[in-house]
Amino acid sequence: MEEKKDDKMEKIVSLCKRRGFVFQGSDIYGGLKGTWDFGPLGVALNNNIKQEWWKMFVDGREDMYGLDAAILMNEKVWEASGHTGAGFADPMVLCTLCEKMQRADHVLKDNGKTGVEGMTTEQIDAKFVSGEDIMCLNCGKRAWSAVKDFNLMFETQVGAEGKQKSYFRPETAQGIFVNFKNVVDSMSPKMPFGIGQIGKAFRNEIAPREFLFRVREFEQMEVEYFVKEENWEAEYAKLLEDIRAWHKHIGLSDENLKEVEVEGNDLAHYSKRTIDFEYNYPGKGFDELAGFAYRTDHDLQNHMKASGTSMEYIEPDGTRYVPHVLEPSFGVGRALTAVLAEAYTEDEMSGEVRTYLKLPVHLAPYRIAVSPLLKNKEQLVGKAREVFSLLKVEFGNVAWDDNGNVGKRYRRQDEIGTPYCVVIDFDTLGEETPDLKDTVTIRHRDTGEQERVAITDLIEKLK
Ligand code: GAP
Repeated sequence: MEEKKDDKMEKIVSLCKRRGFVFQGSDIYGGLKGTWDFGPLGVALNNNIKQEWWKMFVDGREDMYGLDAAILMNEKVWEASGHTGAGFADPMVLCTLCEKMQRADHVLKDNGKTGVEGMTTEQIDAKFVSGEDIMCLNCGKRAWSAVKDFNLMFETQVGAEGKQKSYFRPETAQGIFVNFKNVVDSMSPKMPFGIGQIGKAFRNEIAPREFLFRVREFEQMEVEYFVKEENWEAEYAKLLEDIRAWHKHIGLSDENLKEVEVEGNDLAHYSKRTIDFEYNYPGKGFDELAGFAYRTDHDLQNHMKASGTSMEYIEPDGTRYVPHVLEPSFGVGRALTAVLAEAYTEDEMSGEVRTYLKLPVHLAPYRIAVSPLLKNKEQLVGKAREVFSLLKVEFGNVAWDDNGNVGKRYRRQDEIGTPYCVVIDFDTLGEETPDLKDTVTIRHRDTGEQERVAITDLIEKLK
């Protein structure tokens, strides 16, 4: 079906709200910018993404260990990691006429300046004072303050006296670094090994935008993979394949994915090499989905110096060294957006336009919906309830749906990506068709095809 490109994202956002995937945060109070709440189907999809990731990057491997570190950490963590410094700040500039604070690099770009990526704050400031024509995006005039760095971390106080400063972590990674020694001491891992973590991260983004793409509270799925320095390139190549396999596993097609080598000045303050995985978001084009950084021994060395705790790994032969680190880092919200964009499909069925989510079975919020053909026929409902209980015990994410007629139920389940609908009808009761007794219809989401299956074979069939 012909799709107006920019419409697609709007349709997805609207479907997300209408069908209980994603709501604006604090909606009834007019929202809070950069925050989103996940509804019943959104949390199910999110959980499936996270579970699949955990299976692939932690449980499915011998060389990975899981962790769930606290969000609040000693402020010294962020000094040692470099996050309190300029490396984790955005350049801001104030228009002294209309008093609007703006991202200085965005102002330059919107004024047609090129080569802005990777400029230092001083270089950006020089452009504003150089007399070049850089106009305010708000009032169209030119009266700028000096460009200053704005740190993206949310600061908070710990305890009633509020004397101890802390931050809402801006990445889950540091929780892994500060527990490196604990994991080594408690688990005796062999090199190379990784520690994986899924959890919330917070950034006071100056311009949150584009649905879940740039938000202030989000979730990350991160691995810190510890290697001997001389092996980093070989291990990097292996993990690169794992990241590619992950994106395939969540159903993203090759043509909508791109790998971009991050150049010189654009590298994060800790990275010597980073590949960004970009996704072709509808109405936006290619932009970052996940990152894969070689963080050297930057973090472990800094924590060793700042805390006085050794971060050395000791090989069985007594060799000691501070490991280097490879970091595949994924944002859950961006993965969810990409999964929805990839799955969103419009086609024609029975002469009508239908919208459906072609989600992989392992990600669908509901794997199966069970319906009695009619909801006011006791025998049908009783039998359908039996089948529902059977499937619920086996699969867990099974929906009961007896609203409206069967056609409407199919459309509703298609729209939320349920791969299979199981319908209990008069044939199931076998009163007029004894040979069909205890069989049900399975209807397939993508093709609309239906097949008749014995209840005794249903679980195997659906597996
Ligand atoms: N530990 C490395 C790190 O945090 P990053 O590139 O800043 O690296 C990793 O973030 C991933 O986290 C990104 O690729 C993206 O998927 C997600 N992410 C980062 N900032 C985000 C934001 N403001 N909103 C949504 N997702 C974000």
